[in-house]
Amino acid sequence: MAQTRVLECCKCFLVLFLVFMPMVLGSPSVGVNWGTMSTHHLPPDKVVQMLRENGFKKLKLFEADEKILAALIGTDIEVMLAIPNYMLQTMSQDTEAAASWVYANVTSYSYTGGVKIKYVAVGNEPFLQTYNDSYIHSTLPALKNIQEALNNAELGSKIKATVPFNADIYYSPESNPVPSAGDFRPEIRDVTTEIIQYLHSNGAPFTVNIYPFLSLYGNDYFPMDFAFFDGSNKPLRDGNLVYTNVFDANFDTLVRSLEKAGYPTMDIIVGEVGWPTDGDKNANIKNAKRFNQGLLGHALSGSGTPARKGTIEIYLFSLIDENGKSIAPGNFERHWGIFEFDGKPKYELDLSGMMENKGLAPVEGVEYMERKWCVLNPDADNYEELPDSIDYACSLSDCTALSYGSSCNHLSARGNASYAFNMYFQINDQHPWNCDFSGLAIITDKDPSEGDCEFPVMIVSHSALLLQTGVLDTLARVVGGFMVFALVLC
Ligand SMILES: *[C@@H]1O[C@H](CO)[C@@H](O)[C@H](O)[C@H]1NC(C)=O
Ligand SMILES: *[C@@H]1O[C@H](CO)[C@@H](O)[C@H](O)[C@H]1NC(C)=O
Ligand SMILES: *[C@@H]1O[C@H](CO)[C@@H](O)[C@H](O)[C@H]1NC(C)=O
Repeated sequence: MAQTRVLECCKCFLVLFLVFMPMVLGSPSVGVNWGTMSTHHLPPDKVVQMLRENGFKKLKLFEADEKILAALIGTDIEVMLAIPNYMLQTMSQDTEAAASWVYANVTSYSYTGGVKIKYVAVGNEPFLQTYNDSYIHSTLPALKNIQEALNNAELGSKIKATVPFNADIYYSPESNPVPSAGDFRPEIRDVTTEIIQYLHSNGAPFTVNIYPFLSLYGNDYFPMDFAFFDGSNKPLRDGNLVYTNVFDANFDTLVRSLEKAGYPTMDIIVGEVGWPTDGDKNANIKNAKRFNQGLLGHALSGSGTPARKGTIEIYLFSLIDENGKSIAPGNFERHWGIFEFDGKPKYELDLSGMMENKGLAPVEGVEYMERKWCVLNPDADNYEELPDSIDYACSLSDCTALSYGSSCNHLSARGNASYAFNMYFQINDQHPWNCDFSGLAIITDKDPSEGDCEFPVMIVSHSALLLQTGVLDTLARVVGGFMVFALVLC
């Protein structure tokens, strides 16, 4: 009897063990980019808490933001920390500047129980074609100076410097548009090869940003299905290899380019990949969920791409919407987040890649401003200044949701005016004097949102409330306890 009960017990622990094993034994996990170009920031400690509750283990930051780094102290989240492009010139010329950057932003956090910085990203897409070669000469020297500063601080064996490139540094010729014909752009091939050589000699990975959404955005004839991971209407054949999605084709174009440069086994990290939810006819929640869920399943499955097997290391772009980003690339640019500006998840996403309909945990305890909105005054009778007022409000806020194909594109002319006024009012912290527009606007406490078109209420951006106790923390401790117990018992 007693023995049976122990056995039963072991069985139940075994089940527990099997269920939690992947989580505990560090199964492949997805990273995420946390950009901060927004007018109102969520408290970093609350965002970090949300990252932990959702099980994010890897994070990429575009700057060494002191408040974010402080919030990461003591967590086991691995960080890729970037040096922005505007610092490349200095970092390339001045080894002292590189050393002080490393000291202030890496060394001072890299103690036991500090922040787990694993990579330093030197620049961000520095060879992007639209930058007109501005960073061609500074990137490699900056990379060397940073890695050497890391080595001098005795951090070089665990922290590697890398350079996140845009996928526009390689291509396949139009005459033979298949991955195996891929190579680096001729104008930058030599310097890119030198960078690869240097990365390789340090055991550092090659980092690339890949955007299937942009393939679709730039080309109305692009086969829609090929942007996703569940379609195969028009597979692309490349010798014996068959491509059913543009991500793999793009990734393997890099694999082939690296082969040609003499580095066939170079590690690759996808530093940014994702799908926006607004600001274009293809940018919506349905497509974003379809892409990201398909991507996670694919990247974490270990099946790899046709030219390279194994787990694909990816960092989703991005964590939270950023209403302060330039819309030069397109109106979708402010809508890449898997979370809204206020930390609410936009859709269900199973980060383990198992494709289950799992919800994401939101940022908890977010403080909002008062529930009030600024709308077109129904009693206004002189609309002469209306167009100028709308232009003014939009130029100083964010009206990307009004554009063609977006969530608020169906509004009437009056609705457009209200939307513009409200965005201006919210971004300016709801000051009454920001809801006037020569008498055309009026404050209301009735939510003007219509269907999918949301009129937001802004968050309070300066709050610094205390951290709440971590649910996941407690769970991990409980599970850990169970496991030790089970092993001893069995
Ligand atoms: C650390 O990084 C921040 C953010 O990029 C930057 O403003 C600061 O100058 C850096 N510190 C040093 C000493 O370079
Ligand atoms: C690059 O060159 C084009 C054409 O000369 C110019 O319009 C653009 O502003 C330049 N961009 C940068 C980042 O310098
Ligand atoms: C509302 O504004 C958008 C963006 O400017 C525009 O495309 C649309 O035609 C406007 N709607 C009306 C009814 O004026």
